[in-house]
Amino acid sequence: MNTFRVIVFAVLYCATCLCDLDVSSCEVATRTEQGLVCGRRRKATNGEDYASFRGIPYAKQPLGRLRFKELRPAEPFHGVFNATETGPICPQVDIFFGPLMAPRSMGEDCIRINIHVPYQFFPDVRTGSTKQLLPVFFWIHGGSLNYGSGDPDFYGPEYLMTKDIILVTINYRLNVFGFLSLGNKYIPGNNGIRDCIAALKWVQKNIRNFGGDPDRVTLAGQSAGGVLAHMISVSPASKGLFKQVAALSGQSAYGMFSYSRKYASIVNAIFFIAIGINPLQPPKKVHDDLVAAPLERLLYGQKAILDVLGVVAFVPIIETPQPSFTTVLPKEPEELVNEGAGKEYPTIIGLCSNEGIILYPRLKEVHMAEKLKMMPALTLPLSLLMAANLETIPVLTTIQLAKYFNYTNITLIKFLNSVTDLSYTYPAQRLARKRLATGAAKTYFYQFNYKSKKHPLKLRFNMTYPGAAHLEDITYFFRLNAFLGPQTKLNELAHSDDDSRMKDWMTTMISNFVINGSPAVNESDWPPCQEDLRYQHIEKPFKYNFTTLTPYMKDNIKYCNRLFKIALGV
Ligand SMILES: *[C@@H]1O[C@H](CO)[C@@H](O)[C@H](O)[C@H]1NC(C)=O
Ligand SMILES: *[C@@H]1O[C@H](CO)[C@@H](O)[C@H](O)[C@H]1NC(C)=O
Ligand SMILES: *[C@@H]1O[C@H](CO)[C@@H](O)[C@H](O)[C@H]1NC(C)=O
Ligand SMILES: *[C@@H]1O[C@H](CO)[C@@H](O)[C@H](O)[C@H]1NC(C)=O
Ligand SMILES: *[C@@H]1O[C@H](CO)[C@@H](O)[C@H](O)[C@H]1NC(C)=O
Ligand SMILES: *[C@@H]1O[C@H](CO)[C@@H](O)[C@H](O)[C@H]1NC(C)=O
Repeated sequence: MNTFRVIVFAVLYCATCLCDLDVSSCEVATRTEQGLVCGRRRKATNGEDYASFRGIPYAKQPLGRLRFKELRPAEPFHGVFNATETGPICPQVDIFFGPLMAPRSMGEDCIRINIHVPYQFFPDVRTGSTKQLLPVFFWIHGGSLNYGSGDPDFYGPEYLMTKDIILVTINYRLNVFGFLSLGNKYIPGNNGIRDCIAALKWVQKNIRNFGGDPDRVTLAGQSAGGVLAHMISVSPASKGLFKQVAALSGQSAYGMFSYSRKYASIVNAIFFIAIGINPLQPPKKVHDDLVAAPLERLLYGQKAILDVLGVVAFVPIIETPQPSFTTVLPKEPEELVNEGAGKEYPTIIGLCSNEGIILYPRLKEVHMAEKLKMMPALTLPLSLLMAANLETIPVLTTIQLAKYFNYTNITLIKFLNSVTDLSYTYPAQRLARKRLATGAAKTYFYQFNYKSKKHPLKLRFNMTYPGAAHLEDITYFFRLNAFLGPQTKLNELAHSDDDSRMKDWMTTMISNFVINGSPAVNESDWPPCQEDLRYQHIEKPFKYNFTTLTPYMKDNIKYCNRLFKIALGV
């Protein structure tokens, strides 16, 4: 225990006493810069209490004229803010889980942060007792930048609250609200990224009052959340806000998304036709029309894009700096990585062995196999396709068809295998290599390959498949409350003892990283990445298997290097 911290905290406590307003009816309360917040005590899976604060605004809500603006600072609360329940989720069309989840309130006043603290570490502002400050796990949710929220229905804190860490989850503007880019001073794009940075800044200012250590923040996310976490870590706009990074099944160098103006113009074209606003009007008029448009109309445009493209619509964009917006992405993330951006952060990169298969139900629904048969070039990753020299595309397509589809036999499953290899596995390995080349801080790498027979996702989608799908790894440290139902002894992922042990292991692994900067207690079990890219193969609970690349992975790296070389000449 660090004595200096205790003293700092004691001083802070005196400055934040709660004597002025009545919080006696609150189970737990503390102060933020905006005023007092009232939370609840809830139960972790080990039966211990945690303090839970939900739906706290971390900025002024982007309503009306603020719709496409960078967030403004939060306004003071009137009285005590009731943070016992979650706030609204951001406007979205949840093509994946929406139909499976309980209806939730949705609105543009969704700029909210949730903070969960093991109760024994919560600073008791009434008795004035001071505690050890805990490291903070700051989580950015996934959902293709289209849907999702930081709410505990999907990111249940019940497992992580058995460890000595604080969990922070956030909402950020999604889809058209967060990522529409007109490339001008009215709507430059990337607001969703700026929102996450605003939330990180809020944590710096307020987390001490929740018992958190602002100097030990781990910036983390999965899928699109992993892309954002990693992108923020290489952004010039995020210095000093966190100490390390976890990018799980998503990172920002060549992978899932194309950050090009070319891609944005395709998406924008579909969008503007669908919503009936003329994009060729003067930019200010286009902006004003978009601000005046009802929420439902914008979401209708969003849905129109997804009907064509399947899963991905608006994404981040390489910015040209604009006067009233913080520039967060000045270059391709890979260029930033090559220049050494983010190299100071220890980083864990995670993958699942069968990432792509999660897309199966959705892509079947939008008849993706038929679309691919008509436009086989689309079997290539969008990031590659958009970056490639045009004349190379027929060659790239032929190579890709030969490798995955025996030239003509395009099936969804084969396509999804190529998505796993080309859009997840290879880019993650490439990032690890690039970090090594810049002399970066430790990089830890895992591939999750645990095969649960009765994983809640498998049950919900009625699917069987080899390996572990996208999302499965994190459901062993976030309780999937929406699917598992309320906690009982029977449903704690305890379809089998192994599931339950895997939950214990993954929860320990990620909290080890948050606490110590290393996922394993014994570094010999899981050393950081070296040139040969050996990684932790997670297949059995509590069994370390630090292993060399499989022949399949080696072939895949060669194959992808070849595609990149042809496409980009690098
Ligand atoms: C806070 O909100 C919850 C749910 O909306 C309500 O049940 C509770 O009474 C409120 N608490 C206070 C102190 O206002
Ligand atoms: C590939 O297609 C050819 C004919 O088009 C067929 O003879 C061959 O068996 C196929 N190979 C595989 C691996 O399916
Ligand atoms: C196409 O692939 C499927 C699945 O791998 C296989 O069953 C089928 O025989 C293949 N057809 C041809 C013509 O290669
Ligand atoms: C689940 O899939 C199996 C085989 O694919 C099928 O027989 C069964 O009817 C499906 N069940 C549901 C509830 O859809
Ligand atoms: C760490 O691992 C090494 C090699 O497997 C072993 O010899 C050592 O006992 C381990 N240390 C601890 C503390 O588990
Ligand atoms: C270790 O991982 C490799 C995959 O790289 C796998 O082939 C092997 O069976 C694993 N070993 C054990 C003991 O689980």
